[in-house]
Amino acid sequence: MNIAVVGADGQLGAELAWELQREHTVFPLYHETFDLTNYAQMQEFFLTHDVNCVLNAAGLNDKESCEKNPLQAFAVNALGARDLARLCQSSRAACIHISCDAIFDGEKEVPYVETDRPSPLTVYANSKVAGENFVLSECEKATVVRSGILYGKHQRRDGSRNIVEEILLKATKNPELYYSDSILICPTSAVALAKQICAFIADPPGGIIHASCHGACSWCQFAQRIMSLTNNITPVFPASQSSESLREPLFSALENRRLQQLGLDVMPFWEEALHDYLHAEWSLARMTESARFASMTENSQGFWNLFRREYTL
Ligand SMILES: NC(=O)c1ccc[n+]([C@@H]2O[C@H](COP(=O)([O-])OP(=O)(O)OC[C@H]3O[C@@H](n4cnc5c(N)ncnc54)[C@H](OP(=O)(O)O)[C@@H]3O)[C@@H](O)[C@H]2O)c1
Repeated sequence: MNIAVVGADGQLGAELAWELQREHTVFPLYHETFDLTNYAQMQEFFLTHDVNCVLNAAGLNDKESCEKNPLQAFAVNALGARDLARLCQSSRAACIHISCDAIFDGEKEVPYVETDRPSPLTVYANSKVAGENFVLSECEKATVVRSGILYGKHQRRDGSRNIVEEILLKATKNPELYYSDSILICPTSAVALAKQICAFIADPPGGIIHASCHGACSWCQFAQRIMSLTNNITPVFPASQSSESLREPLFSALENRRLQQLGLDVMPFWEEALHDYLHAEWSLARMTESARFASMTENSQGFWNLFRREYTL
């Protein structure tokens, strides 16, 4: 299959491009040359490339910045997603659009399923709900994949760290850490989500799909597990109040109900995915650049540039 990955240097986009190139021809698309707010630029790509499927892993995810710039948030997360879905429809390509758990208000107290009604609390979440609705209504072959809080090894262009790195960095600067014990999340590894999407890419299920790591934990439990997996002795204590200034759902766990019904659920439990992420980080750092490069197929070598800036090898 010919597959385009939009936002191919984001946390998830990079993992998707990497996983998909093993079996497919991948067109990695970057913000500079494929901007969701530039219709003519996107159209030019569709006119010059024959794609069977487009994965939209691009978006504005910084919640604070979305609150400050709601027009920009909607331009990218809602209208940009809509335009991309329209172009997919006119090219008869499948459109797989990534959304999030933050579209729920957290009042339910048991994991959310695909049929639960969104009730967004923030500008970011509202823009994501609008994006979901646009994509589903504009493209017949659309699948919206909702996931939990993501962490991936790919360094973002703006230099911002993923949540695991943030916690590890804080531990180097503070004698003890405090994280909320009242906000429950589904931390999800970008690698695991990319593998899950690869599992159904040839025949996307359509409609809304929940795909997050199994289980749920508080921010405090998540930080404690990171400390124990990295043999870090910095203690992590529960903080009664969230330090977040934005309203955040108290409970945003997703149940992968449709994936399970379809027999397609390959998501790991969050602890296992976290272990694998931390283990892979350390293993990769120990490998030499030549050994890694030599082990790649010719097709894979094209992706080396995408990854080499992540590691000091
Ligand atoms: N992060 C999470 O915790 C989380 C949780 C659940 C779901 N999601 C969803 O999963 C998807 C991927 O998240 P992520 O964490 O991998 O994101 P990320 O690392 O922030 O990457 C986002 C990508 O989108 C690109 N982008 C931003 N504006 C664009 C535009 N106007 N046109 C084209 N590309 C643009 C960025 O490029 P530049 O850096 O060059 O601007 C970057 O490559 C998003 O849809 C997000 O809503 C994220």
